Amino acid sequence: MQAVHAVFFSPTGTTKKVVSMAAQTLEKALSLPLKQHDFTTPAGRDQALVFGPHDLVVIGLPVYAGRLPNLLLPFLNTLEGHGARALPLVLFGNRNYDDGLLELGLILENQGFSLLAAGAFVGEHAFSRILGAGRPDEADLKDVRHLALSAAERIKKDGPYPRIWDLLGEAPRDLKPYYTPRDSQGNPINILKVKPRLDAQKCTACGRCVGLCPMGSIHPDDLAQINGICIKCGACIKGCPTGARYYEDPGYLYHQEELEKQYARRAENSVFL
Ligand SMILES: Cc1cc2nc3c(=O)[nH]c(=O)nc-3n(C[C@H](O)[C@H](O)[C@H](O)COP(=O)(O)O)c2cc1C
Ligand code: SF4
Ligand code: SF4
Repeated sequence: MQAVHAVFFSPTGTTKKVVSMAAQTLEKALSLPLKQHDFTTPAGRDQALVFGPHDLVVIGLPVYAGRLPNLLLPFLNTLEGHGARALPLVLFGNRNYDDGLLELGLILENQGFSLLAAGAFVGEHAFSRILGAGRPDEADLKDVRHLALSAAERIKKDGPYPRIWDLLGEAPRDLKPYYTPRDSQGNPINILKVKPRLDAQKCTACGRCVGLCPMGSIHPDDLAQINGICIKCGACIKGCPTGARYYEDPGYLYHQEELEKQYARRAENSVFL
């Protein structure tokens, strides 16, 4: 191995924290240089990431609706492994990671990576400040280090490199559909078109949210305008220093409250070795 790569999409920073911890642990355990590839913003997805058999790639994304964020799939399908080793990680907001980790493992295998291990970790939910609040915390990061050290052992022995199905202990099957939020009557809530609002009284026009938006959708000259797609990632809301962005859509707010009520318990991380 010649380098460890920390590769992530992380609008609210929890995936970055876990991927960085895993990559730094591997950097130390294997005495390798560490490189970072942040593909959160459009500029980070300008060029395909091409790796080779001497690369160790720690790659992480958040789980959205029980799967990987679907708008990232075109970019993920341009990754080139060429025999690189990969440690796939997903972050989920204290509900469930459903098929997010499976989907990432399948994509990596398809793109020519050999898997070392895999993990799903809890991060504060992008929709909330109380669901998974403060996570990943110290206990979570201990699990991350344990996973990374196990991956380092597999590298030292040069395998065997398991398939994602073996790691997850499942027989091959189709991926489950995206998770659908529902109202009190059981009807689906559609938040696809929902966008955060701007409180002009609180906004200081610092422009921070413009650079944070993974879709490049916030108009730099008219901050109230979200012109393109909004994936509800929470970056502009949690990253605004004055709390000037908020949601007012009743369906979104109902879903947020339901999640906070239903999934208040401390969810566990899952580590697959
Ligand atoms: C649109 C959207 C859908 C989400 N769906 C789920 C989900 O199905 N299950 C879950 O536990 N968390 C879900 N989350 C929470 C994120 O997985 C969690 O906040 C993650 O830590 C965010 O990663 P980041 O901090 O790197 O942006 C969702 C978040 C967003 C924005
Ligand atoms: S980060 Fe907040 S204060 Fe700064 S421009 Fe955006 S909304 Fe306004
Ligand atoms: S506008 Fe939507 S996609 Fe852009 S940062 Fe805000 S929540 Fe995320």
